[in-house]
Amino acid sequence: MLGRLNHVAIAVKDAEKAAKIYAGAFGAEISGAVPLPEHGVITVFVTLPNTKIEFIQPLGEASPIAKFVERNADGGIHHICYDVPDIIAARDRLIKEGARVLGDGVPRIGAHGKPVLFFHPKDFSGALVEIEQA
Ligand code: CO
Repeated sequence: MLGRLNHVAIAVKDAEKAAKIYAGAFGAEISGAVPLPEHGVITVFVTLPNTKIEFIQPLGEASPIAKFVERNADGGIHHICYDVPDIIAARDRLIKEGARVLGDGVPRIGAHGKPVLFFHPKDFSGALVEIEQA
């Protein structure tokens, strides 16, 4: 059920500035800044041949990444996202295996217009895990 690595997310104070460093230093292709009010973040993607880097920046006072960015003033790896062929089947199986889903467990539309869910880092070796419907 585990598919491709969809992206690695790095939380920063300024997502555009962070992505521009990749555009300059690596000549990477970067997206524009996209606000996702439902997730409390602004995203900028760096496209690589085999995956993406997602820079996320807090949006609004209730942003779920505000504290993380406060604690990691220079930025830091925030989560990793895997493709799954069927997000509901994947969610149910992970919960059955003892993983804790964040929020109400209902998939929300993520940065790519596809449903996503997050799982507790304590259940995945300290890494916040996002799954995305492939
Ligand atoms: Co993500």
